[in-house]
Amino acid sequence: MKAIKKIDEMRREVSSIKSRGMSIGFVPTMGYLHEGHLSLVRQSLQKADVTVVSIFVNPAQFGQREDFKEYPRDLNRDSEVLEKEGIDYLFVPEADEIYPQGYKTYIEVHDLQDKLCGRSRPGHFRGVCTVVLKLFNIVNPDVSFFGQKDYQQAIILKRMVKDLRLEVKIEALPIIREEDGLALSSRNKYLTQEERKAALVLSKSLKEAQSMIEKGQRVSAAIIKGMKEIIGREPLVKIDYVEIVDMDNLDPVARIEKKALAAVAVFIGKVRLIDNTILLF
Ligand code: PAJ
Repeated sequence: MKAIKKIDEMRREVSSIKSRGMSIGFVPTMGYLHEGHLSLVRQSLQKADVTVVSIFVNPAQFGQREDFKEYPRDLNRDSEVLEKEGIDYLFVPEADEIYPQGYKTYIEVHDLQDKLCGRSRPGHFRGVCTVVLKLFNIVNPDVSFFGQKDYQQAIILKRMVKDLRLEVKIEALPIIREEDGLALSSRNKYLTQEERKAALVLSKSLKEAQSMIEKGQRVSAAIIKGMKEIIGREPLVKIDYVEIVDMDNLDPVARIEKKALAAVAVFIGKVRLIDNTILLF
């Protein structure tokens, strides 16, 4: 595995890979890697000739009062883990390599960026799109892997790729969970034991939604009520949103007549956690 910090050097490697006719798989991350990230890495190793992983805690996607400074970082451990997985390149730019002084260019995917997480995190998806487009521009991947854990992020990036006619395929892969249902997240590290236990209401509420569907319930409001009841049983958990939305445009659906997405976001103490599931019937 070769670790690279500079854009120019990464670009030189990329053109040499391309000149040999090899495909590039790319997994952008903010590090503090867990099995969720690694599921994407393994898929890339299987599907592409060369796998590039980036680790960059992107300041542009954090709000002023958010946890950019506290976001967990452990580059030494991440490098070891990625080396063991057998990736080819680790791209780890410094902030001023991506956003040099005087930086002014941002990309926005209108409408989709304002829904769900966009409402409580204004500017978040603008930061995500900007950095991902910049990274695509450097790594020039044939295929890039994202997790359905951040379903809205994946949908927005797919829209960006379509709108800009980028020549990269976006693959969204299933959520990896702990045995008890908690979706893996770098932010789980900040949960106390008690909070970690309380956090189980996210996946429990999503399971409840699916089971209500299986019992024939089709009215979103009734399902959302059931979900909120479960979450409400944990005093440590404060709801940001509980929604059932269209899989493609993320608009709320009143009646579930086809596959839909149930999505939740909560605060536990200062930690914001999200989870979702595709409701099937
Ligand atoms: P980060 O939170 O590090 O996540 C990197 C990728 O791992 C994302 O595609 C995310 O959806 C996926 N992922 C996280 N937890 C997962 C889980 N439990 N199961 C499956 N996949 C999971 O998402 C970002 O970084 C950033 O916004 C980024 C795209 C890197 C842009 O800065």
